[in-house]
Amino acid sequence: MKKIVINTGGGDAPGLNAVIRAIVLSAINRGWEVYGSRFGYRGLLENDYLVHLDRDAVRGITHLGGTILGTTNKGDPFNYPVKTQNGVTLEDLSGQVIEKFHRYGFEAFIVIGGDGSLRIAQRFVDLGLPIVAVPKTIDNDLINTDITFGFDTAVTTATEALDKLHSTAEAHERVMVVEVMGRYAGWIALSSGVSATADVILIPEIPFDIEKVCRKIMERELQGRRFSIVVVAEGAKPMGGDLTTTADKREAGRQEVHLGGIAAKVAEQIRSKTGKDCRSIVLGHLQRGGSPTTFDRLLSLRFGTAAVRFVEKEMFGYMVALDPPEIKAVSIHSAVERTKFVPLDCDTIAAARDLGISFGD
Ligand code: F6P
Repeated sequence: MKKIVINTGGGDAPGLNAVIRAIVLSAINRGWEVYGSRFGYRGLLENDYLVHLDRDAVRGITHLGGTILGTTNKGDPFNYPVKTQNGVTLEDLSGQVIEKFHRYGFEAFIVIGGDGSLRIAQRFVDLGLPIVAVPKTIDNDLINTDITFGFDTAVTTATEALDKLHSTAEAHERVMVVEVMGRYAGWIALSSGVSATADVILIPEIPFDIEKVCRKIMERELQGRRFSIVVVAEGAKPMGGDLTTTADKREAGRQEVHLGGIAAKVAEQIRSKTGKDCRSIVLGHLQRGGSPTTFDRLLSLRFGTAAVRFVEKEMFGYMVALDPPEIKAVSIHSAVERTKFVPLDCDTIAAARDLGISFGD
């Protein structure tokens, strides 16, 4: 009988609960015992955050968004925010995680996370913890896996929102500038923008020229199409310009800057250059919520069960990855070496250009 522990870290993504259920059931069916560390590593650092996961704990959760374990993007044990008299300091508590892992008699750790969480997992692998990873992120920016769970649901949500914005844009003859998530990669913007027949898609991989964006909008105007939909990835930037960030949202222990605000800037520039009535909207965390699509549920259930098979075979230091039609093993190390950007020569970009969609280049 094995005793294993699992956690979910970083931003949540639809499908996390399906992965948890898949791990718990396939482990229990092997006669193993599963514990969950709540809010990332907190269960291995603080009292009361380690929970036993039995069949009842995971009943009826496959279709639910969020994570029953809770998650955090401020819980890196190597830089853990600790309250002191002078505020908050960051301390290396990784030793405590390792000590508690062994004290509880765990034999394996399944870590479900995106690039940040997997980098932390790799550091623990280097320190000898037996870890298997499951890739999660709505951004789809992890290399060595064809896709991450959560992405399909986020794209579906964004596409549905764009469809709704289409009708109001047309009714008012407006330009709607819609900001979607994705961090430094344009996967969500590209997939939802093409699917929802956007007129302009701005992604981080293709710095844009606002004059070209306006030209596309005015061409449509001349054709009698007096409204436009512009999809902007939160990480998009103008040629020679910078990312738009919300510096005020920096929190102690958070490693990454907060992206946001590019849609408002683009809308204002389009308004002043074309005279068109413009509105900007940020879809934000809507894209992380809700029930996972069928695709994401199935992928999550496949990933979770595969992770348990990896543990059974003692394939530690590996991540489950989708290499259609198979699930394969890739080293966690290789999965976090670099970010997976949209390749400029990919077929979806070619399709978008053939359909007349502008990338502002
Ligand atoms: O990585 C997932 C993601 O939703 C990104 O697309 C976005 O930039 C970021 O997380 C938002 O983080 P937070 O939940 O801290 O606002």
